[in-house]
Amino acid sequence: MGLGQGRLFDSDWRLRARSRPRRRRRLARERTATQDSQDSLAPFRTSAGRPDIGSSSGNGLTHPPDDPDLLAKAESFIVQFHAENHLEDSLLAERLARVRRDIVTHGTYQHTSAELAFAAQVAWRNSARCIGRLYWRSLRLRDRRHVFTAEQVAAESVLHLREATNGGRIRPLITVFAPDAPGRPGPRILSSQLVRYAGYEAAPAEAGSRLTVIGDPANVGLTRLARRLGWRAPAEPGRFDVLPLLIQAPGAEPSWHELPADAVLQVPLRHPDHSGIEELGLRWYAVPVISDMRLEAGGVTYPAAPFNGWYMGTEIGSRDLGDVGRYNELPRIAARLGLNTADDRTLWKDRAMTELNVAVLHSFSAAGVTITDHHTESARFLKHLELEERQGRRCPADWTWIVPPAASSATAVFHRYYDHFDQTPNFYRHQSSVS
Ligand code: ARG
Repeated sequence: MGLGQGRLFDSDWRLRARSRPRRRRRLARERTATQDSQDSLAPFRTSAGRPDIGSSSGNGLTHPPDDPDLLAKAESFIVQFHAENHLEDSLLAERLARVRRDIVTHGTYQHTSAELAFAAQVAWRNSARCIGRLYWRSLRLRDRRHVFTAEQVAAESVLHLREATNGGRIRPLITVFAPDAPGRPGPRILSSQLVRYAGYEAAPAEAGSRLTVIGDPANVGLTRLARRLGWRAPAEPGRFDVLPLLIQAPGAEPSWHELPADAVLQVPLRHPDHSGIEELGLRWYAVPVISDMRLEAGGVTYPAAPFNGWYMGTEIGSRDLGDVGRYNELPRIAARLGLNTADDRTLWKDRAMTELNVAVLHSFSAAGVTITDHHTESARFLKHLELEERQGRRCPADWTWIVPPAASSATAVFHRYYDHFDQTPNFYRHQSSVS
C-alpha cells in the first residue's frame, strides 16, 4: 500500500475535457447501443458510429496501434506472464501468435482475465513509492472491462468500496474498467480517490491575506468542479464532507455521482489517554482507493482502474491531518496536550505528531478497521526486498517515499539505499484535469 504519501501536490488543476466536440458525444452514446461482446474481440471492432481513426489512415490496417511499440510491449508482458506462472512453452507460442494477429488487425489486443489479474499485482509490485508491497500477491481483480459509461463506473466504484471495506477487514482490490483502444478512449475517474473530503475556499478574514480553506485543501479543485457541475454542498460546509465521485466518460462532459453514506466507512479519532483530542472532531475514512492512476500493462492502458490497500497510520496522522498544506492539526493537538508552542525547541510539533499518530492507530484498531503502523511496515518491506531478491528480481524503490514521515531513522528502511527505476506493468498518475 502506501502508494502516495501525497507528496505530489497538484497546484495547477484545470478542467481539460470541458469542451469535447458534440459529435464525439453522440458517438459515445451510440457506442452504448452497439457495444460489445459477441466474441472476445468485439470491443475492438469498428461498429457503426464509433470513431475510427484507423480507416482513414490508408495503410490497409483497420486500426493502427496508438503506440508504435505496442507489439514489443505486448510480447514482453506475455512472456513475463508465462515465465512467472511457469506455463508451457506451447501455450506461450499460441498466445503470442494470437496477440500478434489481433494487434495487426485491430491495433490492440485483449488481456485474458488471468493476465489482467497478474498485471495488476505486478503493477503494485513495481510501485517504487509503496512500502506495503509484501502482500502484492493478495490483490484481487474485479474485471469490469465492459464498463465505460459514467453511471456504471460510479455504480461499480460504490460496489468496489463496499467490497474493499468489508466491515473493516479491508481487502486489497482493483476494479479495471474499459481500456483505451485506437480512436476509443476508456473512461476516467477525475477524483483522486473514491473517497475525498471537500475543501471549500472561504473568504479570508482580512483583506489581502490568503484564502482560507474549510476541509481538505488538497481537494479544492475537485470541490470547485463538483459545484460547477451542479453538486450542492451541504448548507453548512463541514470539514469532512464526502465529495461526490467525479467521472469523465469518453466523449462526454464530466459528471458527479453521490456516494451512498453507508458505503463510506469513517473512523472518528480519539486518543487513548488524552480525552481533549476527541473534542477536535477529527475523523478519517477507512479505505484509500486511488482512482487517478492508469494501469499500464503490455502496452495497453486502463485509464480507470481504482485500487486500494489499507492505510499506514502516518499517511493520516503525519500527512493528511498534519501537513501545513492539508488539515494542519498540529497546533490544535499541541494546545490540547498543553504544549508550549511558542518555541520550536520544545519540539511541540514532534510530540503533537506522535500523539496524533497514536490516536489514528488507536481509533482504527478500536473500530475494527485494518490499519498498519510504520515500524511493522518497515520490517515487512525489508522482508519483501529479500523475497524479491530470492526470486532473482530487482525491486524498484524510491527512498524519499519509502521512508515514513514519522520516526524515520527509527525504522530500518531509513538506513539503506534502493534501486530506483521504472518498469511496467505499473500505475501512473494521470495529468490532473481539474483545478
Ligand atoms: N497517502 C494517501 C492518503 O493519505 C493514500 C495512498 C495509498 N495508501 C495506501 N495505504 N494504499 O490518503
